[in-house]
Amino acid sequence: MGPSAKDSSLNIAPACVEDYRELARKRLPRQFFDYIDGHAYQEKTGHNNVKAFEDLQLRQRILRDVSRVDTSTHFLGRDMDMPVILAPVGLTGCFAKRGEVQGLKAANKANVPFTLSTVGICSIEELQQAATQPFWFQLYVIKDRQYCIRLLERAKAAGCDTLVFTVDLPVLGERYRDTRNGLSGNGSLLGNLKRAWDIISHPKWVLDVPIGGKPLTFGNLQEALPDAQGLNDFKGWVDDQFDPSISWQDLNWIRDHWHGNIVLKGILDVEDAKQAAAIGADAIVVSNHGGRQLDGVPATLSALPDIAQAVQGKTKIIVDSGIRSGLDVVKALASGADACMIGRAWSYALAARGEQGVSHVLAIMKNEMRVAMSLTGVNNITELNSSVLIKPSER
Ligand code: FNR
Repeated sequence: MGPSAKDSSLNIAPACVEDYRELARKRLPRQFFDYIDGHAYQEKTGHNNVKAFEDLQLRQRILRDVSRVDTSTHFLGRDMDMPVILAPVGLTGCFAKRGEVQGLKAANKANVPFTLSTVGICSIEELQQAATQPFWFQLYVIKDRQYCIRLLERAKAAGCDTLVFTVDLPVLGERYRDTRNGLSGNGSLLGNLKRAWDIISHPKWVLDVPIGGKPLTFGNLQEALPDAQGLNDFKGWVDDQFDPSISWQDLNWIRDHWHGNIVLKGILDVEDAKQAAAIGADAIVVSNHGGRQLDGVPATLSALPDIAQAVQGKTKIIVDSGIRSGLDVVKALASGADACMIGRAWSYALAARGEQGVSHVLAIMKNEMRVAMSLTGVNNITELNSSVLIKPSER
């Protein structure tokens, strides 16, 4: 089935990320769709992330010779076809068979970086086998520092050149949908029966993932729990290993054990951004974890301009949370970012159609970028700045 073919469950040919979201909703058991789609608490920040992009207006310009529009960039030592990076997403091997490998292959073909989560289903080594380009590795600092060092050694051995160190998860924000669906554990008997029904009423997914996509374990954590049989055995260990004692001093420790690029992910405050730049982070990700941690914090797009102004190019800026189109990428770059990460956009596509879906979403976003740049009168991404945006005072 080609990317433009109709999907029988939706009766449309998917044209945008939102269409892939609907396909993912149909294909996945509800507990997994909600795991991707949900945000923390009342989900206000999650919704505001998307709304901030919707509310920002582009400035249409005409007759500016846009015959050479080029979305490519050079970022953290590599050429990329567009300034878009696949964000680390845990458990993607539960959305589609060996999901991390499928996402990686699509990213490699599109010539953009893929980031493997600490809590991916596939291991660093499984990705290494499939990779045709270096991939990025994301680390949560877990209490067992020796295990962290071991993970860094494995990532280095697999050719990873960039470490994404996630700093906005010293504790877990509660996601009500996961609690209601029993995904956070401690389900009642009735709840467990409902979960089982949710699974068996999605036979195509059952054939693809639990049957065809084994083993469903946390590949990177297998060495810590060699006897673990399934995801539930890992869950308790992972929840217990998030380290609330983490502080800026831990970055020295990371630097001692990692000599590639270091990207600090989860910065939303100007002072934190300045400190990250001062200690030499190669890049920061302005992020609120896609609205999955502290509800009530600003949308990343509204935090971005002040952060960009404060760091003055001393560290590169990636932004994520709420990016659903190439138009959003253009708005983010015009607001001060050097690159963007996408989390849900590639997760929905993976759940809907595997590697082919992710490839299609990346192609859609690149084309949307090209059109947005053409119609704002810009040929290169280095020309994207606030001049392509309508200022609030001009509305
Ligand atoms: C995430 N995110 C995330 N971040 C991280 O550093 N490690 C991880 O394992 C995960 N896992 C994860 C699972 C799911 C289902 C989602 C949706 C997100 C956060 C992710 O990297 C990114 O910051 C957000 O997804 C960006 O927001 P959008 O693009 O999803 O709106």
